[in-house]
Amino acid sequence: MAKRIQFARTGGPEVLELVDVTSAEPAPGEVRVSNQAVGLNFIDIYFRTGLYPAPWLPSGLGTEGAGVVDAVGEGVTHLKAGDRVAYAQGPLGAYAEQHVVPAEKVVVLPEAIDVETAAASMLKGLTVQYLLRQTCPLEGGETILWHAAAGGVGSIACQWAKALGVKLIGTVSSPEKAALAERNGAWATIDYTRENVVERVRELTGGAMCDVVYDSVGKDTWETSLDCLKPRSLMVSFGNASGAVEGVNIGILNQKGSLFVTRPSLNGYADTRERLEWMAGELFAMLESGKVKVDIGQRYPLAEAGKAQEALQGRQTTGSTILLP
Ligand SMILES: NC(=O)c1ccc[n+]([C@@H]2O[C@H](COP(=O)([O-])OP(=O)(O)OC[C@H]3O[C@@H](n4cnc5c(N)ncnc54)[C@H](OP(=O)(O)O)[C@@H]3O)[C@@H](O)[C@H]2O)c1
Repeated sequence: MAKRIQFARTGGPEVLELVDVTSAEPAPGEVRVSNQAVGLNFIDIYFRTGLYPAPWLPSGLGTEGAGVVDAVGEGVTHLKAGDRVAYAQGPLGAYAEQHVVPAEKVVVLPEAIDVETAAASMLKGLTVQYLLRQTCPLEGGETILWHAAAGGVGSIACQWAKALGVKLIGTVSSPEKAALAERNGAWATIDYTRENVVERVRELTGGAMCDVVYDSVGKDTWETSLDCLKPRSLMVSFGNASGAVEGVNIGILNQKGSLFVTRPSLNGYADTRERLEWMAGELFAMLESGKVKVDIGQRYPLAEAGKAQEALQGRQTTGSTILLP
């Protein structure tokens, strides 16, 4: 038997329950990971609330974890029992002591990277890798706007952008979060509870505005984000913390300067084993070099997953949050 968090109906954090389940055996091509740390991500809240539908109910939750391989399915050649590993994709169910995952989504951890760091950075760090290095490959010298700069993804982005020589302007909701983002290498911060974001971006850039805007807040910031861009530049809408962007009239892209928009996902970029290995290799190199340090702002016991989600949704967390089985 193993413990896992599951939900039988969508709703608030109270729908999450800790249950005992029989440990599943890995099918061909799968491995079972004994999780030592589990990553908490905003996408878990989208599944819990039903914004993203779970394939079936009751359902497990979570897609990010790190630990040790404890059973290996037929045909798996790159992993063996005892390997220290991490994953950020695959079926819902990482909020658990054990999770069965397609082996092609699992990577072996370098010695220097501990399991807590891995669980706190696999999904968020791979996301930053594809956003800064692939969606719009940045070369250094660009100015970008990044919402939620003191959050899990944002804290890694501030450091990675700095390492690339990119000027990251981060939005935050408090002076404490501004200080954290600046310590992480943000070139400037804007506290959107006190300052007008578009005006501040204009001042900071001498009127030039941004080369790329990375917006994971969604509904509340969509138009502001478009107003922060240079003509013919790129809006990357990659999340819905305030709700999904809906009902967009495509003509707005013309009105605001012949803009480009993309709505990417990690699964769309890490879609083959080769690409996942390459992306994870870049992330691990950033971690091993110390250019990116993962800030684990909160740790919760697995049983308190609901409380952890409440804090993330309530903007009370900074950096990454992990659950400990
Ligand atoms: N597309 C992808 O591949 C992908 C992958 C990973 C994550 N994401 C997205 O990236 C975002 C960040 O994820 P994360 O797990 O690292 O979370 P996070 O940034 O640690 O937490 C979300 C932050 O968003 C800000 N926020 C603004 N409006 C909010 C609202 N109405 N409700 C809640 N928070 C609000 C808050 O920061 P302030 O208090 O400073 O405003 C909050 O701390 C999420 O939207 C997530 O879905 C997308």
